[in-house]
Amino acid sequence: MKTSVCIVGGGPSGLLLSQLLHLQGIETVVLERQSREYVLSRIRAGVLERGFAALMRQAQCGERMDREGEVHDGFFIAHGGQQHRIDLHKFSGGSSVLVYGQTEVTRDLYAARDLLQGVVVHNAEDVQLHDLKSSTGTYVTYRQGDETLRIDCDYVVGADGFHGVSRKSIPRDVLREYEKVYPFGWLGVLSRTKPVSPELIYARHARGFALCSLRSQVLSRYYIQVPLTDRVEDWSDAAFWDELQRRLPSSIAGQLVTGPSIEKSIAPLRSYVAEPMRYGNLFLAGDAAHIVPPTGARGLNTAGSDVHYLYQALVAHYRKGDDTGLDRYSEQALARVWKAQRFSWWMTNLLHTYPDQPAYDQQLQATELAYLFSSEKAQAALVENYVGLPY
Ligand code: APR
Ligand code: PHB
Repeated sequence: MKTSVCIVGGGPSGLLLSQLLHLQGIETVVLERQSREYVLSRIRAGVLERGFAALMRQAQCGERMDREGEVHDGFFIAHGGQQHRIDLHKFSGGSSVLVYGQTEVTRDLYAARDLLQGVVVHNAEDVQLHDLKSSTGTYVTYRQGDETLRIDCDYVVGADGFHGVSRKSIPRDVLREYEKVYPFGWLGVLSRTKPVSPELIYARHARGFALCSLRSQVLSRYYIQVPLTDRVEDWSDAAFWDELQRRLPSSIAGQLVTGPSIEKSIAPLRSYVAEPMRYGNLFLAGDAAHIVPPTGARGLNTAGSDVHYLYQALVAHYRKGDDTGLDRYSEQALARVWKAQRFSWWMTNLLHTYPDQPAYDQQLQATELAYLFSSEKAQAALVENYVGLPY
């Protein structure tokens, strides 16, 4: 096979880029290691910033998102038995976020790719990238069953997530990695129950962080902070609901509707950035290059900003022979990536309890919260980041 851009990874980053490029007449092939059913069974976060939603519309994938997604103008931070509302609308000059699950985003992207007969190869095993520095001969190989196939291309986009092969194809002496591992994870439960609050509640509690989120008015998503040593099997549904209730202000806990979990999983919290995001004809996008703890809902949105920059750069290359965007991609994408890292790290520190946290750090954390609730300027800074910094 021959194509212009070979995209490794059929998650939201790869699919969105492929769809946007296709609409500009730029050919792509997407190689995905898993089956479509598997990709669509993964439950991930659900808050879309304005820029991401706009990209979905530009990709002609916004119809169901706009119909079924919920516009949220604010969220709550609960602390010390009280709730404080963070007014997104007021502090962002009228912006909001859209609550729409990443699984649904991915489903819509697959439907759009099907409609345009976009090439998405599933169960592509042993993907390998070749001659990334070559000006004439970059290619990708993969295996399907007993057959090894080859795709010749101008560029490779590594959108294959944190555990993908693309980042590992950059030589060790070129790649710089920055990482922070947090001493806890999030235990998440999805349940077909009425959400306890129409707006998200981020709760700081001495027993640990908790989050009340939702997918719709009949589908709730809740999380609690747990030690890294905990296993999902350790947590019965009853134990989960009990612990969640303890961490919420009593007025909210009393209204919690519980039910059987549809999905239950533990995700460790980690911050990670790989630099540069370009190596020869390879460009990294999304989780392949960086991940954040989910606290600020930046993961998917930051993947979206990579896709935005890369899309603009590739269109300028193919339309006008202008490579400035491609040459600046790594620097431009990373500038925004690091701001999302800073915000996610800040919000994680603000709301979680740390094992053996020194008394000094505990006091600072309490002061940070008190300052936030007393200062409209501090709230405006939170909001500016939460609704998404401009591209
Ligand atoms: N070959 C082909 N495909 C691969 C390979 C490989 N070697 N390794 C991984 N993949 C696929 C995965 O199966 C997955 O479907 O790449 C895809 C990467 O998708 P995601 O992990 O979802 O990453 P991305 O598309 O960048 O999505 C952005 O934002 O909120 C975060 O983690 C959240 O997934 C979300 C991300
Ligand atoms: C979610 O709904 O899964 C969710 C929402 C907000 C976050 C993280 C996760 O910050």
